[in-house]
Amino acid sequence: MSRVAVVTGGTRGIGEAISKALKGAGYKVAANYGGNDEAAQKFKAATAIAVYKWDVSSYDSCAAGVKAVEAELGPIEVLVNNAGVTRDTMFHRMTPEQWTTVINTNLSSLFNMCRPVIEGMRARKFGRIINISSINGQKGQVGQTNYSAAKAGELGFTKALAQESAKSGITVNAVCPGYIATEMVKKIPQDVLDKSILPYIPLGRLGEPEEIARCVLFLASDEAGLITGSTLSANGGQFMV
Ligand code: CAA
Repeated sequence: MSRVAVVTGGTRGIGEAISKALKGAGYKVAANYGGNDEAAQKFKAATAIAVYKWDVSSYDSCAAGVKAVEAELGPIEVLVNNAGVTRDTMFHRMTPEQWTTVINTNLSSLFNMCRPVIEGMRARKFGRIINISSINGQKGQVGQTNYSAAKAGELGFTKALAQESAKSGITVNAVCPGYIATEMVKKIPQDVLDKSILPYIPLGRLGEPEEIARCVLFLASDEAGLITGSTLSANGGQFMV
């Protein structure tokens, strides 16, 4: 049996690694993306994974996207909410737009994606929802009041939905990556990375996207059936909970 998995933000960065790992494990994968057509087409050509464009910050777009995936691939059994953006700046300089963009894309997207899939999962008595949060939702970070708030919100959402969904055979978990070598981390000024971040990672290195993908693969598997409402941290020891 080949399960259908949707990965939001699934064509680049951590999401790309997750999409590829799920495909490698035999899932039928739909990789959502928000705007970068060129990267998505390159990803599709290289992986033969189906790509779907919609905006995760819009409920109507997510509902339509879910409908399109289910019509083409079948009922969604695994949902990985990975799409996210940063608008880093000190709070005293943050604009309402920088706040709203990050909250809508990183946090409201969980409502927008989970709501259209949850009824089907409940009816079929099976589901795996995996939310990609962040170390900075656990510990906070200078320059990220918007991002830290959204990522901490994801953890509360995960625990509440896990409690509601357990009796329907649906598990809901979060993965908290630390600093992973992706385009998002490359945007951090090198001096900030060298002075304020790398020295605080006991393993002394950035993580690789594939290391997060392996966490997701485990949580999606039948073997992880006892685990729900959990937060799996993969951060090189930078923050221990
Ligand atoms: N702790 C305490 N104070 C800090 C600090 C820290 N970690 N970092 C900076 N500050 C202080 C500075 O010392 C400075 O203080 P003074 O004004 O008294 O000198 C003040 O904050 C402003 O610092 P900057 O000069 O760096 O200000 P800036 O406006 O040029 O840049 C910033 C601010 C945008 C936040 C920049 O420091 C930055 O990009 N930091 C990295 C933020 C970060 O870690 N983002 C993660 C992106 S990756 C991601 O989000 C993925 C994930 O999930 C991990």
